[in-house]
Amino acid sequence: MESKILNKPIPEEGLSRVDGRLKVTGKAKYSAEYDVKGVCYGVMVGSTITKGNIKSIETKTAERAPGVLAVITYLNCPNIPGYHTDNQPDKGPLKIFIDDKIYFNGQPIALVIADTYERALFAASLVKADYTKDQHQTDLKANLSSGFSPSKAKDYLRGQEDAYKLAPVKIEHEYTLPTEVHNPMELHAIIACWDADDKITVWDKTQGVKSTQRVIAQAFKLPPENVQVTAPFVGGAFGAALRTWPHEIAAVAAAKLVKRPVKLVLSRADMFTSVGYRPHTWQKVGLGATADGKLVGITHEASGQTSVYENFTEGVVNISQLMYASPNVNTRYRIVPLNVNTPTPMRGPGEATGAYALESAMDELSYALNIDPIELRIRNHADSDPLSGKPYSSKFLKEAYQLGADKIGWSERSQKPGSLTKDGWLVGYGMGAGMFGAYRSNATVTARLMADGTLFLQTSVTDIGPGTGTAMASIAAESMGISPEKIRVELGDSALPPSPTQGGSQVTSTVGAAVFDACKELKDKFRQLDGGADSTDYTALLQKNKLQKLEVTTASKGSAAMNNYAAFSWSVHFIQVYVNPNTGVVKVNKAISVADAGHIVSPKTAASQIKGGSIMGIGMALMEEAVIDHRYGRLVNNNFADYHMPVQADIPQVEALFVNKPDPYLNPMGAKGMGEIATIGVAAAVANAVYNATGKRIRELPITPDKLI
Ligand code: MOS
Repeated sequence: MESKILNKPIPEEGLSRVDGRLKVTGKAKYSAEYDVKGVCYGVMVGSTITKGNIKSIETKTAERAPGVLAVITYLNCPNIPGYHTDNQPDKGPLKIFIDDKIYFNGQPIALVIADTYERALFAASLVKADYTKDQHQTDLKANLSSGFSPSKAKDYLRGQEDAYKLAPVKIEHEYTLPTEVHNPMELHAIIACWDADDKITVWDKTQGVKSTQRVIAQAFKLPPENVQVTAPFVGGAFGAALRTWPHEIAAVAAAKLVKRPVKLVLSRADMFTSVGYRPHTWQKVGLGATADGKLVGITHEASGQTSVYENFTEGVVNISQLMYASPNVNTRYRIVPLNVNTPTPMRGPGEATGAYALESAMDELSYALNIDPIELRIRNHADSDPLSGKPYSSKFLKEAYQLGADKIGWSERSQKPGSLTKDGWLVGYGMGAGMFGAYRSNATVTARLMADGTLFLQTSVTDIGPGTGTAMASIAAESMGISPEKIRVELGDSALPPSPTQGGSQVTSTVGAAVFDACKELKDKFRQLDGGADSTDYTALLQKNKLQKLEVTTASKGSAAMNNYAAFSWSVHFIQVYVNPNTGVVKVNKAISVADAGHIVSPKTAASQIKGGSIMGIGMALMEEAVIDHRYGRLVNNNFADYHMPVQADIPQVEALFVNKPDPYLNPMGAKGMGEIATIGVAAAVANAVYNATGKRIRELPITPDKLI
């Protein structure tokens, strides 16, 4: 941080969330909670078939139901001028209500608008459609052969192809990850309110108010500044709110049609079919090594599902190009179009899926070699980026291995599976590593110091839960040498200075750096007022100069020097499990995650971020699975009763540790991202621990008890 810190306003353990009190007292308002005069309510009707056409749709009964204002279908939907007239691969998200085609089960076929939510819900039950059914395909494994290489993910080769096959020690296995659904606590919701014919305000659940503004402006052919997007609080989002979905466009169109504000809140079931998910993915990894554990070759293939109308692509196999210093690597990625809705990034998109396979395979190799899994990774540690050849901007992964191994008591582990027991339970230890690009993009921050000493920080970025506002306040407090209580952070509004979408583990690096730069500029202004002296008595300086406030708006971006470095955040996860040999129940007893995420600017929220990601990875390993009945192409567990994810009782005390050494190049704080690495590698660590406990290698997630007995 800045060398000249005049006092130390931040406690060692970090700030508590600046918005914590608002959140726990219910004062924080989420998008569906705004009181908008004259608001009416929308409820979606989904297709009950999986592929085909709507033959006829009966809306009269619904239209005559009490309180109904409109029933929108493809037959009467108002023209959305920026919509393409077709759904085609690579032409963006699904366009609803444009024709009679059905691509997946649950696809919206109607939107009912009524004066109350209950009346809209009842009327929605009265909409009946007749269909012409076609044969659908929803089963990834049965359709692997129809996969193709998407234009954005070419096959990769370094050295010799399939070199692992010639190595003295080799393993080759297939790994499968089921579909996982984001399911944040807050349902996706929008209130759309036209203020004039060409001017609209939306309160929307989104990770990026500027991106939502751009998409709505484009769809309705409006100047962006005529679209006001507000999202000061977001109740969790792990990628599902990165893009603007059809229900948001539909609500805006409906509000125009009924000439009233429209509120549309997705149901929990809608959340499974309307806002993306982590796609069902099949992988095969081949690893070959010398007898002393030096990797000779890595071959990593993956096939993930996508929809028939959009080519969703993610970096599943990239981690195998990057993680270890293997001279020979080849990867192949395919997407398989199915009659499902389009997937979307979900925390550690691609990498979390790929790391499950690669880090499981490394564990399998460690047993084949009889080398400790940490030792195997150290022997193959990459000292520079194997893909670009560039030096790393910073990498402290070996320190992270050590910290985690010490904390979990790795020395207690036995290399012989099934050999440790406690109170009748089998005990096992596992670890898995992760990595994700450390990015920084552009952001602008306004910093305004008021006569009473209050510092306002303003930028449009949303805070979806990681503690962006808290990190901003921490950086500003240290930089300005003022108490955090005097800082007000204002976020999540498209009228504020531009910031990136919250995602890709880049917000603290990007927006934090903009806060840092803005504070620096503001301090310079005060220094000028002070005749070059360094005082932090800002109120006195304002008073002396008869000023109500002093304000700067600073645009900030990374330096060109970053091009000379490969920048990544790194993580390693350690898991201790207890497995009941009679019932197959797996209890995670200890979870330790260690992050090399540069300098930690906000220790409390950083620890929460890592713990949340670890819990998500435990869910991925042991519970989460969206199940389709392929006879009907329909989800059977699209609710919180049947779709399992960890609750308090499933999770032990999860610990987050940090190497906490600054990255010298990425940004002035030395911080790197941590949102994604928190999850990447966790599922493998759990699967590896289960193997260590039982000698059973489950290569198809989730590891449910039936697979262990
Ligand atoms: Mo994230 S998958 O960048 O929201």
